[in-house]
Amino acid sequence: MHVTMVKKRLASGQPCEKCVQAEELLKRRGLWERIDEVVWADENDAESAGMKLAQARNVTLAPFFIVKDGSTEQVYTSALGFIKERLSDGQATATATAAAAPAPLGALDEAAAQALGAELAGKSPSEAMKRILSQYGARAAISFSGAEDVMLIDLAAKSGHPFSVFSLDTGRLHADTYRFIERVRKHYGIEISITAPDTVAVEDLVRQKGLFSFYDDGHSECCGIRKVGPLRRVLTRYAAWITGQRRDQSPTRADVPLVQLDTNQGADGRILKLNPLAEQSLADVWTYLRDEQVPYNPLHDQGFVSIGCEPCTRPPRPGEHERAGRWWWEDSTKRECGLHLPK
Ligand code: ADX
Ligand code: SF4
Repeated sequence: MHVTMVKKRLASGQPCEKCVQAEELLKRRGLWERIDEVVWADENDAESAGMKLAQARNVTLAPFFIVKDGSTEQVYTSALGFIKERLSDGQATATATAAAAPAPLGALDEAAAQALGAELAGKSPSEAMKRILSQYGARAAISFSGAEDVMLIDLAAKSGHPFSVFSLDTGRLHADTYRFIERVRKHYGIEISITAPDTVAVEDLVRQKGLFSFYDDGHSECCGIRKVGPLRRVLTRYAAWITGQRRDQSPTRADVPLVQLDTNQGADGRILKLNPLAEQSLADVWTYLRDEQVPYNPLHDQGFVSIGCEPCTRPPRPGEHERAGRWWWEDSTKRECGLHLPK
């Protein structure tokens, strides 16, 4: 197979933004060496080699990839499509579906969870993620919303194993959070499965109690509809659920184990729940994000630490704990939305 990547050079002399992004994506996935040749299409020069290739193939988008295999030729105008179809071995399988099974799962019971927990104890988050994904691959899903979760996505992308990612869209997130989710999707070139709450349940709640009922009678009803229900639905698709929970996040999380059997979720009422950052501190997470230049939610630059829905999150005040800005009008021992129920 011979791969030519055609990149566009703008009149300013700079490469086009999408070409830069595609090259970065290939490099991040360790696939850059699979490109045999790069040819430039100069915007100002219809006779440049890349412009001629584009013209001959009737392509108007950049970048594009020409893949020659023996006597056949295929043109791809999407870097992701090209990766998925032609480079889907090894590192390129990060977006693979649950069908790409890397290893047998074995029995999913308390003993298996405890054995894996013992194996992961003392391992770095990177080692833990490699171990988890080498067994579960795309049947393991990272639940993504905050800074910890992007660290997990970064580790997963670098592990070279397949993995899945989902995010629970409550409909009440900050605009910055939606932009952040999109940025992460593009940065890693991954699929993010974004759930929506049940429409009828949301409409009933809002009709009966208005848009801000949680300030009057607590957050559990709204969280139940917008987060917990969709979580239950999405987790039926996976065998393992990877979260970014940390022990020092809150008094309610002081005992979070590295591995647990969650009998509230999963297709047959059980799922392996993995918390590879359980032993990490907030500072550890931010050191990683900075060192590895991982994208983060711009709200953190405005003083937010733990970020949930817009009406239910504010930045903690000086000296307050990191989760003090979540559901701040409620008792601190009740500040869990129900995603992470005790066993
Ligand atoms: S919450 O339960 O209070 O909302 P928190 O924001 O601390 O949770 O996040 C803890 C973990 O729960 C995250 O690392 C993530 O794995 C998961 N999580 C929280 N909110 C979401 C969401 N909207 N979508 C997906 N996962 C989420
Ligand atoms: Fe509703 Fe607030 Fe819970 Fe979001 S965090 S689901 S807005 S109660």
